[in-house]
Amino acid sequence: MRHLLDPFDFSVEELDNLLRLGRDIAADQRPYAHVCDGKILATLFYEPSTRTRLSFTSAMMHLGGSVLGFSSANASSASKGESVADTIRVVSGYADIAAMRHPFEGAPMRAAMFSGIPVINAGDGGHQHPTQTLTDLLTILSRCGRIDHLRVGFCGDLKYGRTVHSLMHALSRYEGIEFVLISPEELRVPRHLIDSVVTPNHIPCSEVTSLEDAMPDLDVLYMTRIQRERFADKLEYERLKNSYILDAEKMKLGKDSLAVLHPLPRVNEITLDVDNDPRAAYFEQAQNGVYMRMALIMTLLGLAPTGPLADKPLPFLQGAVEIPDEPCQFRSCITRSEEGLVPLYVRDAAGELRCAYCEHRKK
Ligand code: NCD
Repeated sequence: MRHLLDPFDFSVEELDNLLRLGRDIAADQRPYAHVCDGKILATLFYEPSTRTRLSFTSAMMHLGGSVLGFSSANASSASKGESVADTIRVVSGYADIAAMRHPFEGAPMRAAMFSGIPVINAGDGGHQHPTQTLTDLLTILSRCGRIDHLRVGFCGDLKYGRTVHSLMHALSRYEGIEFVLISPEELRVPRHLIDSVVTPNHIPCSEVTSLEDAMPDLDVLYMTRIQRERFADKLEYERLKNSYILDAEKMKLGKDSLAVLHPLPRVNEITLDVDNDPRAAYFEQAQNGVYMRMALIMTLLGLAPTGPLADKPLPFLQGAVEIPDEPCQFRSCITRSEEGLVPLYVRDAAGELRCAYCEHRKK
């Protein structure tokens, strides 16, 4: 059985197959209308969502399957103190596949350790959001005609923006990718991402603060919202919330072939006058979410034309060491909220111990 917790869970070849299937589905969904007849998807959402949950639901319905689940922690037994481990054990008897969104980083991985069905990470805290990445990749492919040899600018909240982290992981495996990381000093990409993704893959990468200066050279501009709910200090959010606003005036600085992506929801970081610019790809990107989630559900259930995926042990468990008395200190790690969880660490390329759940360095 396979899960999708992190974009690296799929090999480049598996990812290519998924994208090919996503493209076929985008062109014509009818051949897939009964692929998942009798199958059930559970959507376990402990955090708000519009696109991710509804596009998962729409995807399963387009495949002929059914959907059950909850859309907030309050509506589930989590509000009574039930653990993720117990919840997924139970849900494994009610559904064939599960998509989980959780405010604590590493929660879907914890679920996968106890699950009898494939678990999909639909966003865990500020950590990862690999199904948004599938959507982003299909959008880049259809807009730019390729996923390699691109200069990709990420702009906004690169610290807490999980979609940025997952897309950087995925893009790092393609030839000729360059990153331009545009953010205020306080919201730079977490160090562990530079150490584990950028440096080992020798990706040209600059960290800058000016969107205007970066614009002219970009092939893709990935805008993000400042993630209000992840700030410990609300005053800091107030100070940073208007850091970047992309408007029609700034769009004049971009190439004709630029593709502007945004995972949505937007707050004010893209003004409405950009929406009719042909380079704005974000609503098409949201639509691609249905096609790629259809491709993903079929693939994880072993119902894709390419057949079942080869079995693979859970990532991060290989070489992981248990250190029972030294819990992870990161405030949004699942190890801080789940009873009975033994802290697990892995050694990174630099020889430092990192929490296997949230990837933050051990203090
Ligand atoms: C993103 C998320 O949840 O991380 N939304 C989405 O799934 N499309 C981006 C965000 O909330 O800013």
